[in-house]
Amino acid sequence: MMKMEIQLKTPLYDKLITYSSDNPISFHVPGHKNGVIFQEKGRPIFEGLLKLDVTELTGLDDLHSPEGVIQESQKLLTKLYEVDTSYFLVNGTTVGNLAMIMAAVNEGDVVLVQRNCHKSVLNGLQLSGARPVFINPEYDVDWNVASGLSVNSVQSALKQYPDARALIVTYPNYYGMVYNLSEIIELAHQKNIPVLVDEAHGAHFIAGGPFPSSAVTLGADIVVQSAHKTLPALTMGSFLHFNSKLVSKSRLEKYLHILQSSSPSYLIMASLDLARSYVGTLNDLDIEYLTEQVTEFRRCLGNLPGIKVLSYENDEGDLLKVTIQSTRGMSGFELQDIFEKAGIYAELADPVNVLLIFPLIKVGISYPLVEIISRLRQALLSLEEQEEKQKEFLPLTKEGTSTLELSFGEMEKREMKKVDFDQAVGKICAEMIIPYPPGIPLLFPGEMISEEDVKQIVWHLNKGTRFQGGELLREGYLRVF
Ligand SMILES: Cc1ncc(COP(=O)(O)O)c(C=O)c1O
Repeated sequence: MMKMEIQLKTPLYDKLITYSSDNPISFHVPGHKNGVIFQEKGRPIFEGLLKLDVTELTGLDDLHSPEGVIQESQKLLTKLYEVDTSYFLVNGTTVGNLAMIMAAVNEGDVVLVQRNCHKSVLNGLQLSGARPVFINPEYDVDWNVASGLSVNSVQSALKQYPDARALIVTYPNYYGMVYNLSEIIELAHQKNIPVLVDEAHGAHFIAGGPFPSSAVTLGADIVVQSAHKTLPALTMGSFLHFNSKLVSKSRLEKYLHILQSSSPSYLIMASLDLARSYVGTLNDLDIEYLTEQVTEFRRCLGNLPGIKVLSYENDEGDLLKVTIQSTRGMSGFELQDIFEKAGIYAELADPVNVLLIFPLIKVGISYPLVEIISRLRQALLSLEEQEEKQKEFLPLTKEGTSTLELSFGEMEKREMKKVDFDQAVGKICAEMIIPYPPGIPLLFPGEMISEEDVKQIVWHLNKGTRFQGGELLREGYLRVF
């Protein structure tokens, strides 16, 4: 069978449909009994789905020991990404990051980590008891965001820490920016160091065409992808791809069993089966259509008053991500507000940007782009008269590598106290300070607080950024050891 024809198959979804069409009587979990029992007001919305929200019944296989339809579905995923083994995850990329780190790293190991990582990466390192060495990323001053790793920075980190046991990177970043991961993987592999990739935002890269290469194709050892972020899958549905001679597969599976629910959602798994089939059957015409639609959307957006659409360096980046800035000095949050008043909800706003995620549409699927542009034109009308104004950016300037001042074990034993921002400089941070979204920590527990960190916090507070962690920030305090 042709490669793409095979991807039309959806064994798990089909099995669930066959099972539910026989009107089975449930004396098992979940308590809604195929939707027979349910709070009335939720019934109209939930009814259809509840029929498929089942458990490990005869013939429906078991995610933790797959040998039937789930195995078949996962094998189709493996075929699509051309790796050793692929897994469905029902607890998001969060659980995939935790499991891949626990599988690859032992207590006390030095691990090289891209500094602008998701909090789940640091949490994984904490659980494993590793010693992270952070490699600071490049910083894009026009976008005011941390982008990717330079080959040079990885090269010197590998030289400085030849005993590193793993390299953990994030690719692409939230805004769709990519970098020379191919060379970075090669450098790490020359030293037998496995490369673990948080590719939460790149599950669709496998479609090829205008998309950057996936870390899977570039030879990474383990890659975790949030299928739910860019593919049509239910929230929490993710993929993990294993393709390594340097990491133990059985150890990875052990941690997936430990960390994932023992009642994995069949709805999430079925949606992963369908999402894999969706991306696996994107053809050249679909890609051409999608590219035209995105290009036209970006062109129309760019003609609206008061905003500009950002472009990637050398045009290399994710086609689905569209980042916008105000040309009238507004913050991303203020711009987001205007969008929301027009009924258009962006993925995120930060102090300077608004990020839209374009849908992975195929030929025959239309998104109301003309309507969106027309609503935005109306909403942005008031900006037409306003003068062009530059925004204030506050780029990060950290370079090279940095480490934690205390081991995770030591942090557990220490007392914490709150101090005001001025006193915090030079002290060791005791909490994760995360501007959210995008969810990339500004400070990790165990890091020395610098003047620049405090400036960044104050700048974010003034811009109206929301934080995860740092409950006392708005009162002017940081927690330190
Ligand atoms: C880079 C990155 N990694 C991991 C995650 C966590 O993914 P999930 O929501 O699938 O658990 C996110 C979520 O936003 C992310 O942006």
